[in-house]
Amino acid sequence: MKILIVYHSESGHTTAFAEGIFGKLTALGHVVNSIQLETAAAVKLAPLRVKQTIDFVNLPDPGDYDALLFGGPIWAWGPSPVIIAAIRKMGKLTGKTCLPFATMGFTGGKTALRYMSRELGTKGAKVLPGAVCKHMLCNFADEIEKNAGRIAALLS
Ligand SMILES: Cc1cc2nc3c(=O)[nH]c(=O)nc-3n(C[C@H](O)[C@H](O)[C@H](O)COP(=O)(O)O)c2cc1C
Repeated sequence: MKILIVYHSESGHTTAFAEGIFGKLTALGHVVNSIQLETAAAVKLAPLRVKQTIDFVNLPDPGDYDALLFGGPIWAWGPSPVIIAAIRKMGKLTGKTCLPFATMGFTGGKTALRYMSRELGTKGAKVLPGAVCKHMLCNFADEIEKNAGRIAALLS
């Protein structure tokens, strides 16, 4: 399968999760491209409900891929406004297999994944169950290993 991992990361945790997913998927023989989103201007570290304009300098074209994975940090018990803006601005996802993923300190992941899944669904994607890794009061490397493996199994 040709798979795109597209993600937002401010302090590196989601990058680490994306790299873990990349490793598992390439080991299975998938052709994987991974893109960290870059915004045209600095983003306010504020939840989705705070209005801000988010434009991208490297928003990928989904057309080339069979499956797309969208990731970002949890902000204020919700999804990253950056990854939500990317989903909304991206071209058609009709018929594409999509999956959300996230990282967080310790709480809010389920709500955020639900929100991301809903956004992907409104763009016509076939949405698989997402995964979230926490990094407080736990072993983050183990979280990545477990959840990246889970995602790879869903796409095999
Ligand atoms: C504005 C802001 C809000 C946050 N809100 C939450 C939260 O509600 N729950 C939580 O567990 N972590 C929260 N965090 C922590 C991040 O979700 C967590 O550190 C995440 O792994 C960061 O990902 P990154 O390193 O890829 O940017 C918040 C961080 C920021 C900057």
